[in-house]
Amino acid sequence: MEHIISEKEIKKHLDDGALPVYVFDCIDSTNRFAKTLTEDFALVVADCQMNGRGRLNRSFHSPKGTGIYMSLKVRINDLYSNVPFLTTLCAVCVHKAIKRLFGFDCGIKWVNDIYIGNKKVSGILCEACDDSHAVIGIGINFYPSVLPEELKGVATHLTEHGSTVTREQLSALICNNILKAVKALPDTASMEYYKKHSIVIGKKVLCIQGDNSFSAIATDIDPFGALVVETADGLRKLSTGEITLRFTD
Ligand code: BTN
Repeated sequence: MEHIISEKEIKKHLDDGALPVYVFDCIDSTNRFAKTLTEDFALVVADCQMNGRGRLNRSFHSPKGTGIYMSLKVRINDLYSNVPFLTTLCAVCVHKAIKRLFGFDCGIKWVNDIYIGNKKVSGILCEACDDSHAVIGIGINFYPSVLPEELKGVATHLTEHGSTVTREQLSALICNNILKAVKALPDTASMEYYKKHSIVIGKKVLCIQGDNSFSAIATDIDPFGALVVETADGLRKLSTGEITLRFTD
């Protein structure tokens, strides 16, 4: 069966020729599918998702032919103590792959959104499968697409149609970066890279948790990936999970 995203092309760019690769024209969610796999390591890529999922149970706009929707299933020893590093590490891997292929620096918005200027180009959703396996889901707006009203002005894409960089190249390079990085966990060097490219540190932010919100200035990211913010009541550390940040300046 012909795929719009070519499995052969992805494999050509993968470092690990034995990695199981599943490519779909359309799927409900690559993360959901990856969680059903029995292999320790596998890559799932789709050209379209009917039910792409984002953080905090949001949906992820996944139209056909314009994005990269990929999930990597990985085995991680001591998964729970490595989770804080995993989330930030994936953003670093995506950032580095874009820089290498496109030659420009994006920004990383805590926790793991990738931005060009003040618009989101990629989001990452890491989910635990069991004690030693996680699924890392990455969505990238690669080519321009018709955006729903709520994404207009807040989302952008990496490239115009006709770019010499392909979705297969970028997804394979991200996969190579993540597999290498996951095998080197715990890794503190990537936290320095993460902080260097953070677009949050030094900014006024609105921290939203459910129905509550408070204003703060983001001052740092701690060694475990928690965001340190200065509030009217003093310093607070926000860990990943339930918090959404909005820039207020
Ligand atoms: C976010 O921005 O909140 C995270 C978005 C993660 C989207 C990707 S697309 C591939 C994988 N499959 C999913 O259902 N979600 C992730």
